[in-house]
Amino acid sequence: MQMASAVTFRARLLGWAARRFAGKSGSMSFAGTLSMLSDSSLFPLFRNGLDPVAEIGALREQSPVSRLPVPLGIRAWLVTGYEPVRAVLGSTDGFSNDFGRFAARIGLEAGQQPGGLGMADPPMHTRLRRMIMPEFTMHRLARLQPRIEAIVADRLDAMSRTAGPVDLWQEFALPVPALTICELLGVPYADRELVQRVSTARFDLGDGAYAPLDAINESRAYLRDLVADQRRKPGDGLIGSLIRDHGDELDDQELAGLADGVLTGGLETSASMLALGALVLMTQPELAEPLRAGGPADALVEELLRYLTVVQVAFPRFAVRDLEVAGVPIRAGDVVMCSLSAADRDEVLGPGMDQIDAGRRTSRSHLAFGHGLHRCVGAELARMELRIAYPALVRRFPAMRPAIDPASLPMRRASIVFGLESLPVTLD
Ligand code: HEM
Repeated sequence: MQMASAVTFRARLLGWAARRFAGKSGSMSFAGTLSMLSDSSLFPLFRNGLDPVAEIGALREQSPVSRLPVPLGIRAWLVTGYEPVRAVLGSTDGFSNDFGRFAARIGLEAGQQPGGLGMADPPMHTRLRRMIMPEFTMHRLARLQPRIEAIVADRLDAMSRTAGPVDLWQEFALPVPALTICELLGVPYADRELVQRVSTARFDLGDGAYAPLDAINESRAYLRDLVADQRRKPGDGLIGSLIRDHGDELDDQELAGLADGVLTGGLETSASMLALGALVLMTQPELAEPLRAGGPADALVEELLRYLTVVQVAFPRFAVRDLEVAGVPIRAGDVVMCSLSAADRDEVLGPGMDQIDAGRRTSRSHLAFGHGLHRCVGAELARMELRIAYPALVRRFPAMRPAIDPASLPMRRASIVFGLESLPVTLD
């Protein structure tokens, strides 16, 4: 197993916790709890290059539902097989996502629920999800397509003006989804530089695990101000339509929270897919050829989503009653972690799942966007971004290649969202 040092991966995990939970009460206690996890609990988050570590593949073959050692007397399970993961995520009455139910067991107060759609149960989840879904229909997203094309073209122009190696992560992978989410939310043009700056700063762990906190707080303060402005004059995007259609059901805090959930859910995930996908296209150039020749990107995008499965584990699920998963008895109150990255390499999907095959035919869909009630609301938007960005990138810079040995690129090895910390490339 290739592992980053214990200190590094814990710092990264804490960085993730800080990004996801900062500003919510109890965030640091939650991060503190995560810091108690040992290597043997965190191994589902490690990778060997782009692959999940061999141990997780072996576990999937031998015991696809197995105990995960965690402290504080918590009974936790790791699910690695495709079918059992689908069964857990698809269960409508066996599991809860409500962190509040579980908080007391790990020493957090009930009020310390980190919040967001991903950790809510029906009926609250249903109510909030219904409010934001209209903005994610194909019809509404079509409005964004020309904007995403313009954002991508603009970033490619900016890159071409840079002398010497360019950091594709900072200059392309992060700004494209950050600016796309600005379009989605309805952030005015004058403020986009600020959003882009704080979005990038969220991932800057250079000064330690808690360094992104300032950026996150700045971004949340900005969203609260934006919501207050749009109360007076609702704009065109998601915030404006939430105010128009549900303004009397949601206070400013809830509205800013929903906007922040969309930013948090859609930024790091899409940015990681853009950067890692670009790396794959550079190191396996035969995959980029059809795109350069003007071919469609859809099948390749699906295969990259499956192969990379950047959201490595789904939100924790808490068993609400005694039940069985793949014949393994789970007790009420047990925590179940689903490894999406392991499930998406399961051979029940077909042979050779550790390789990328853009011509692959499979009747079962990958789990990169999850499954069931909490399946990603932004899946179609993410697909649209990737289908526009990859072809534009490989057509504009056909000779682009990593500026350093790909084996020494800084990969995050213990982060819920797998990715790179930078991607220096040479353009010609
Ligand atoms: C390639 C990019 C993306 C990937 C791989 C991804 C992956 C996921 C996954 C796996 C889940 C489900 C987690 C679970 O069941 O525990 C999820 C949920 C979610 N995603 Fe995404 N996502 C991406 C892009 C986006 C975008 C662009 C947005 C919004 C702009 C977004 C917003 C959300 C939200 C709000 C949820 C929570 C849904 C719920 O709980 O009902 N995601 N995402």
